[in-house]
Amino acid sequence: MSHMTFDEIKKLFDENVIGNYSRMPVAFVRGEGSHLWDSEGNRYVDLMPGWGTTLLGHCHPKVVTAVQRQAAMLIHVDNTFYTEPQGLLAQRIAEHSFGGGKCFFCNSGAEAIEAAIKLARIHNEPVGRYKIITMRGSFHGRTMGAVTATGQEVYHRARLQLRAAERPGRRQRGGGPPDLRRHPRTHTRRGRRAGGRRGVRARAALLLR
Ligand SMILES: Cc1ncc(COP(=O)(O)O)c(C=O)c1O
Repeated sequence: MSHMTFDEIKKLFDENVIGNYSRMPVAFVRGEGSHLWDSEGNRYVDLMPGWGTTLLGHCHPKVVTAVQRQAAMLIHVDNTFYTEPQGLLAQRIAEHSFGGGKCFFCNSGAEAIEAAIKLARIHNEPVGRYKIITMRGSFHGRTMGAVTATGQEVYHRARLQLRAAERPGRRQRGGGPPDLRRHPRTHTRRGRRAGGRRGVRARAALLLR
């Protein structure tokens, strides 16, 4: 099967895709198990996690068959309705992870972070004492809340983030309390000193790592 060359694919991206991700100069066209092939026919061993989406490797026949079978029956129904596969998937995940808990399905890591932030606020706002603690050097995604939670200066240059305080107890210039606090990664195994030497005084509703 013939493919576009890397230069042709890159040109397509340069002309049509916003460059918000830095990419390696490789275009993959095929995968099998732990191996990937690029547009020039080079084979690679895939040591990337696929951000959790390709843990079973590439194109395992059972996965391919399941996807093909479902796609031939029903590809998409929005969240206004019920579907059997989504319910069964939630049941399997719950059984194998938190036992008795429930699933929140979303489309990205950033959405998962946003949902965690919202849940922490909903749960603790009525008592007026919640904090969201994140770590310096962390990455949590590109939505507004997730960018704020991300502990890397490079993601804050566009000033799209919420108010954040870099040190426990320190208020940000510009008034108002910080929406979240960012701490060094100095927590102990018991998590007692998640806030470093000074600790976290307020009750923490959410700790993102
Ligand atoms: C720890 C962590 N949280 C959140 C995200 C954001 O995920 P997404 O790009 O799917 O929004 C990432 C992505 O690399 C991540 O590594």
